[in-house]
Amino acid sequence: MAEKTLVILISGRGSNMEALLDARLPARVAAVVSNIPQARGLGVAARRGIATAVVDHRAFPDRAAFEAALAAEIDRHRPDLVVLAGFTRILTPPFVERYEGRIMNIHPSLLPAFPGLDTHRRALEAGVRIHGCTVHFVTHALDSGPIVVQAAVPVQAGDTEERLAARVLAQEHRIYPQAIRWFCEGRLRVGRDGAVAVDAARAADGALTAPPLEAP
Ligand code: GRF
Repeated sequence: MAEKTLVILISGRGSNMEALLDARLPARVAAVVSNIPQARGLGVAARRGIATAVVDHRAFPDRAAFEAALAAEIDRHRPDLVVLAGFTRILTPPFVERYEGRIMNIHPSLLPAFPGLDTHRRALEAGVRIHGCTVHFVTHALDSGPIVVQAAVPVQAGDTEERLAARVLAQEHRIYPQAIRWFCEGRLRVGRDGAVAVDAARAADGALTAPPLEAP
């Protein structure tokens, strides 16, 4: 199977991006693109020899102009998958539709609970016992779209936003590489009902092996 090409979009720290780079995926990261020039992740990527680019949303008169420039930068690399990894700009339907079925996001909650911002604070305020994170294909509705994989993180007595966020982040770093590996292996199928199936892996001898069970 031909190696897949990824473009990763970030806005800040870039720890999910780093987890993907560390994961030795059967893929080439062609570029890391940020809308924020100071994003820490840009330096991390550059030090690892990955091409970086900045498309600063503040330099454009409107969202459409920004997204046109962003799409041009992405498309230069002809990626099989666009990976949102802490990318904080809301993307409009025309942009998302351009990459339908080949754009993924990671969100720090168990969707459909807590879409949007401040997910850890809101989870604590709601008193949920189980929190977590979700990898999903991106559709035009915010933080929705076919769910590829989730990890559950129990809320502990006395948890602060920071402590809970750290435990969720550790799970993000585990499930995002897993989801992208499945994508690269051609094993993800999105059904008409929006449910994602993970095909069993085909071993070198042609035998089928079941996908691993995901423990948190
Ligand atoms: C992560 O919690 C991710 O789920 C959310 O933004 C945060 C980005 O962190 N979308 P990082 O930039 O990957 O370290």
